[in-house]
Amino acid sequence: MQGHVRIYSGGGGGGGGDAALLYYGCAGPVGDWTQRIASLQPTIDLSVATMYGRLPGTGNGAASGGAAGALGDRVKIGFCTDLDKSVLVNNFEKRGWHQVNGDDDWHFYWAGVQTCRNIFSVDSGYRMHDTQMINHFPNHYELSRKDLLVKNIKRYRKDLERDGNPLAEKTESNNSSGTRYLYLDFVPTTFVLPADYNMFVEEYRKFPLSTWIMKPCGKSQGAGIFLINKLSKLKKWSREAKGPFHPQIAKESYVISRYIDNPLLIGGKKFDLRLYVLVTSFRPLKAYLFKQGFCRFCTVKYDTSVTELDNMYVHLTNVSVQKHGGEYNTLHGGKWSVQNLALYLEGTRGKEVTDRLFGAISWLIVHSLRAVAPVMASDRHCFECYGYDIIIDNALKPWLVEVNASPSLTSTTVNDRILKYKLIDNILSVVLPPDGIPDVRWSKIPSADALGNFELLIDEELAAQDEAQNSSNNNNSSSSHTKSGKFSSRWK
Ligand SMILES: Nc1ncnc2c1ncn2[C@@H]1O[C@H](COP(=O)(O)OP(=O)(O)O)[C@@H](O)[C@H]1O
Ligand SMILES: [Mg+2]
Repeated sequence: MQGHVRIYSGGGGGGGGDAALLYYGCAGPVGDWTQRIASLQPTIDLSVATMYGRLPGTGNGAASGGAAGALGDRVKIGFCTDLDKSVLVNNFEKRGWHQVNGDDDWHFYWAGVQTCRNIFSVDSGYRMHDTQMINHFPNHYELSRKDLLVKNIKRYRKDLERDGNPLAEKTESNNSSGTRYLYLDFVPTTFVLPADYNMFVEEYRKFPLSTWIMKPCGKSQGAGIFLINKLSKLKKWSREAKGPFHPQIAKESYVISRYIDNPLLIGGKKFDLRLYVLVTSFRPLKAYLFKQGFCRFCTVKYDTSVTELDNMYVHLTNVSVQKHGGEYNTLHGGKWSVQNLALYLEGTRGKEVTDRLFGAISWLIVHSLRAVAPVMASDRHCFECYGYDIIIDNALKPWLVEVNASPSLTSTTVNDRILKYKLIDNILSVVLPPDGIPDVRWSKIPSADALGNFELLIDEELAAQDEAQNSSNNNNSSSSHTKSGKFSSRWK
């Protein structure tokens, strides 16, 4: 169905008024995000509420429509976690849940990725009940591994192109290097090494002045990352990696990505965005964006000179890197709220381009999720909160750098603690049915109140319902679900 409202595409490429307009599906304006976040203050609710639930598999059907259990047969909810994080445990205990072992009957497991892998492994033989939930999808690495993310996005674009979908439209690149995707050009050109070495060399030769960033696929927190601007440096690294002293590096695969060398600078410093995205289902896709993300600043002024190429305080925004620098400020931790960024950009660049930027960010998140949705095991027991790393360039174009399946829950500042506490609290209220008791038979349609600081990005199920309603000309309901469905349909 061809839509009647226009939205800005994520591939619009610029701070000017030249962003391409995409007519596709029923779309809404893109400014809502910044308007709403501007009015938000982090709040913390430390009141202790007690909530009782059922043992796994003994549903009373109150919220889910499942089999009725004995009245009064109410048992405390057991949570389990292998992460020693106060923001988690405080939130669980605030709900009156009690901690149990992984071997006991648990309702809610907040697990590290390795534990999760063990639970889902065929060898474990573990089968989850309807009243159990866990915080990872079994093959989240399709999104969170740097090489697989790029592979999935490339495949997604190719599939759309093959189907003649207008989303896959291409345009002449501004640097005369051929074509680029008009709407889906949101990851820097990337190759996997060693597999794609020859393709990389071809690309390198086209742009001999570009800088590239090498990142190990299996690491995080800035570990093992370095920049190169000469093929000889890569060759040297490769020779050394294969040598007897680094057998472990030789086995590891890397991605090499075009370095975004024109980042938007504030106070002369590079920063990136850490945004939290909650997915409660991949098929149909249901995803929410936490409105209180933040910017992570480098401690040292940005400098593209070759002598600074190895200075990670200039180029990597990870807090795990920056906190070791002499300039690190422990009070604000080099962080700025997204609200601040929005205000700053509205003041310096104007409201229209700021709205367009945030629209483009939502756009890239939704399409990165759509790219992996077909290959994700969309287990009903699972939900996942992803940490999106996004760089904004000086033309206000956002670039997806990576997606983390276990974003840090460590608090480096007071504001951080408040934010992460709120994040977990809001995740719980979105993923749990209204009675607060895990149940996979629930519709996974949270009320507007339950969203807290989450905003619906996409709900394909609601969007389909809306479409059906619209087409039968019977769209006069005013329930919050219908409203969220309409909101989500801008992504169709
Ligand atoms: N293509 C890129 N262009 C510019 N900066 C980048 C690029 N890729 C990564 N970075 C910088 O390096 C940091 C670490 O990269 P990332 O892919 O997030 O790996 P890690 O898993 O180690 O956090 C990012 O937060 C960002 O500051
Ligand atoms: Mg990162």
